[in-house]
Amino acid sequence: MYVIESEDLWKTYDGRRWALSGVDLRVREGEVLALLGRNGAGKTTFIRIACSLLKPTRGSVRVLGMDVTQESSRVRERIALVPQEGRPSNLNTPWSHVYYYLIARGLPRSEARVRARRYLQSLELWDVRDVICGNLSGGMRQRVLVAMALATEADVLFLDEPTIGLDPLSKQTVWEQIRDSAAEGRTVVVTTHNMEEAETIADRVAIIDEGRIVASGTPEEVKARVGYEYRVDLRGDGIEASELSSYGLVRRIGDRYRVYLSDSTARELLDLAIARGWTASLSRTTLEDAFVLLVGEVEEHAG
Ligand SMILES: Nc1ncnc2c1ncn2[C@@H]1O[C@H](COP(=O)(O)OP(=O)(O)O)[C@@H](O)[C@H]1O
Ligand SMILES: [Mg+2]
Repeated sequence: MYVIESEDLWKTYDGRRWALSGVDLRVREGEVLALLGRNGAGKTTFIRIACSLLKPTRGSVRVLGMDVTQESSRVRERIALVPQEGRPSNLNTPWSHVYYYLIARGLPRSEARVRARRYLQSLELWDVRDVICGNLSGGMRQRVLVAMALATEADVLFLDEPTIGLDPLSKQTVWEQIRDSAAEGRTVVVTTHNMEEAETIADRVAIIDEGRIVASGTPEEVKARVGYEYRVDLRGDGIEASELSSYGLVRRIGDRYRVYLSDSTARELLDLAIARGWTASLSRTTLEDAFVLLVGEVEEHAG
């Protein structure tokens, strides 16, 4: 049983270009799914459809077993959203945003007070709870939106780039709270193009590009799909991409060459680097490498 299930989901805004082209996505209860993609990949479109804010052109999404188009009001009672580029209103305080949002969702006042306090504290906004948002930093304002969504303790949370504009410490605070929500059994979909974020908080990731899911699974599974376990970065005189390509897949990054390869060829390439006097460094491939390779491949096919 999946908490979120999209089937063959298509969306066009203008009748000419597809923002989503047949997206199948399933999310299990209590799982954090990171939807990864570049700008314009279709992440926000997916989130808005799943939250019943936008109608699909074709296909459907079920949330908690309910069709989001046909049962939108019942779905909305069970979900919460941090919208992309949302902003709390400048004239209200963090406290009033969270507290009155909970009241509007039907919580009794005493419960709303307890929750508002708990989430403002955990998102490190308690000390500024009575300061109007217009006088807070951008990162604090963003955390107000996160606090509003998490404080609902809704069964399903949709967070569209929740850590955009946050400093590294605030990011970690938000990551911790997202993990805590999942640990309490809530299901979370978070969009991001931050690979560290995905590797830190996600149980599973789905990479979306040009409206299509190009890979999904645990971060380990997605990395394994790419097929290269290691990468070697090389810098030095007289490096020729053509010579390197017999070792693996070569990418040029600034003044370096990066070669994606497997265990055995990595050794041979390091020997070559030593013989030639190049600077070489070996590392395991990361989710970011997998992302670049998968999304890059799609582009090559398309071109
Ligand atoms: N309101 C809209 N009207 C027309 N096109 C849109 C609209 N919103 C998004 N798009 C287009 O749909 C595609 C996917 O956008 P979006 O879902 O916002 O991607 P992401 O959130 O991954 O950056 C892009 O090509 C974008 O230009
Ligand atoms: Mg977006």
